[in-house]
Amino acid sequence: MSTKPDGSTGGMGRVASGDAGAAVLASDAALLTSDRQELLWAVLENLSEGVVACDASGTLSFFNRATREFHGMAEEPIGPQEWSERYSLHRADGTLMNVDEVPLVRALRGEIVRDAVMVIAPRNREARTVICSGRRLYDRSGKLLGAVVVMRDITEQIAAERHKADLARERELNHAKDELLATVAHELRNPLTSVLGWTHVLKLQLQDEEARSALAAIERSTRMQAQLIDDLSDVARIASGKLTLNRERLFVQEILESVIAGSRPAAEKKRIAIIAPASYEPTAVEADRIRLQQVFWNLFTNALKFTPSGGTVFVEVQVRHDHVRMSVRDTGRGIKEDFLSRVFDRYAQETAGRRHQGLGLGLSIARTIIELHGGSITAASEGEGRGAVFSVTLPRSVR
Ligand SMILES: Nc1ncnc2c1ncn2[C@@H]1O[C@H](COP(=O)(O)OP(=O)(O)OP(=O)(O)O)[C@@H](O)[C@H]1O
Ligand SMILES: [Mg+2]
Repeated sequence: MSTKPDGSTGGMGRVASGDAGAAVLASDAALLTSDRQELLWAVLENLSEGVVACDASGTLSFFNRATREFHGMAEEPIGPQEWSERYSLHRADGTLMNVDEVPLVRALRGEIVRDAVMVIAPRNREARTVICSGRRLYDRSGKLLGAVVVMRDITEQIAAERHKADLARERELNHAKDELLATVAHELRNPLTSVLGWTHVLKLQLQDEEARSALAAIERSTRMQAQLIDDLSDVARIASGKLTLNRERLFVQEILESVIAGSRPAAEKKRIAIIAPASYEPTAVEADRIRLQQVFWNLFTNALKFTPSGGTVFVEVQVRHDHVRMSVRDTGRGIKEDFLSRVFDRYAQETAGRRHQGLGLGLSIARTIIELHGGSITAASEGEGRGAVFSVTLPRSVR
C-alpha cells in the first residue's frame, strides 16, 4: 500500500456508507487489500475486454470471464508451447500462430505488445478477431511475476470495415464500368446506324423470298443489338447526370396503346394474352414521349420474358385527382422477396434458374426516367411463381 505525503493510504479506499456523505478511509490495511482485490476481481470479470495472465514460467494463471468466452473452455494450467493449438490461436489470415507470435508469449519475453491482431477460432464456435496489448509484470522488488495481455473483440468492427470496403470497391468498379460503357457504346452504335440504313435499302430492292427473310433476320438482330447499346449509353448518361427530358403534353393512353401494339407480335408468338382496358379516359401528363415509351417497353418486355406460355399480362390505369397510376401485371415467375428490394438496381438480375437475355439495366433506367418526371415506380410480387406487378405513377398535367 502506498502512503501519500499527508499520511493517508493511496489507491482505493473503502467509503463508510450512511455517514452523511463524509468519506471515512478504512484503516484496516488487510481489509483494504481484500476490498481492493474484490473490486479488481469484479471489474475484471465484468470487462468486455478479455484479460489473461501467466506466471514467470509461462503457466497460465488468470483468465477473466470475457477470455473464457472467447476460448469457450475453462482455464487449466498448460505451458506456452501448447497455447496456440489448445486455445485455437490464429493469425489474421487464419493460419495457426507460432508459439513465439502469441501476444502473451511476446509480452512474457519482455516485449511491450501493442495492438497485435489475433484470431481465436475454436472448433464449433464462431471465430473472433481480437486486438491485444500487454506487457510483463514485476513485483515491487523488481522480480518477474509473469505477463498480462488485454484483448478487445473487434470481430464486428472488422466485418463492418470489410463491408464498407466492399461497397466502396463495388462503387469504384461500377464507375469504371460506366466510363468504359460510355466510350464503347458510342463507338459501337455508329456502324449500326449504317447497317440498319443499308438493310432498309436492300429490303426494298430484293425480290427473292429467302434473301428477304434473311435480311429481316439481320434487321431484327441489329435492332436488338442497337437496343442493348442504347441501354448502355443511357446508363452512362445517367451516371454522368446527362440524361435530359424533352417534355411535351401527351396522353398516357396513347403511349400505352403504342407499346401494347408493339408488344402484341411477341406476346402472340409466346401465346400470352395482353388484357388492357377497352377504353380509357385520356389523361394528360407532361412527359418525354420517347422516354416514357422506353419505360413501358421495358415493363412489357420483362412481363413477356418472365411469363411462361399461356400466361396473361394485364394493364391497369387508375386516374386520380392529381396523378395517374399505370400498372403492368403478369402471371409469370414472380420475384422473390429478398430480390424485390434490388430489382431497380443497376445490373441486378435474379440469376437462379435459366439465364435470360438482357443486362439487368431496363428497370434502373426506367426508375431514373420516371423520377426525372417527378413520378415513382414500384414493384410488387406475392413471391416466386405468383406473378409480378410494376406500377408507374406520374403527376397529371395541370394545363
Ligand atoms: N415481370 C417480371 N417478373 C419477374 N421478374 C422480373 C420481372 N421484371 C423484372 N424482373 C427481374 O428483375 C431483373 C431486372 O430487370 P431489368 O428489366 O432491369 O433487366 P433485364 O430485363 O434482365 O435486362 P435488360 O432490361 O437490361 O434487357 C430481371 O432480370 C428479373 O430478374
Ligand atoms: Mg428488362
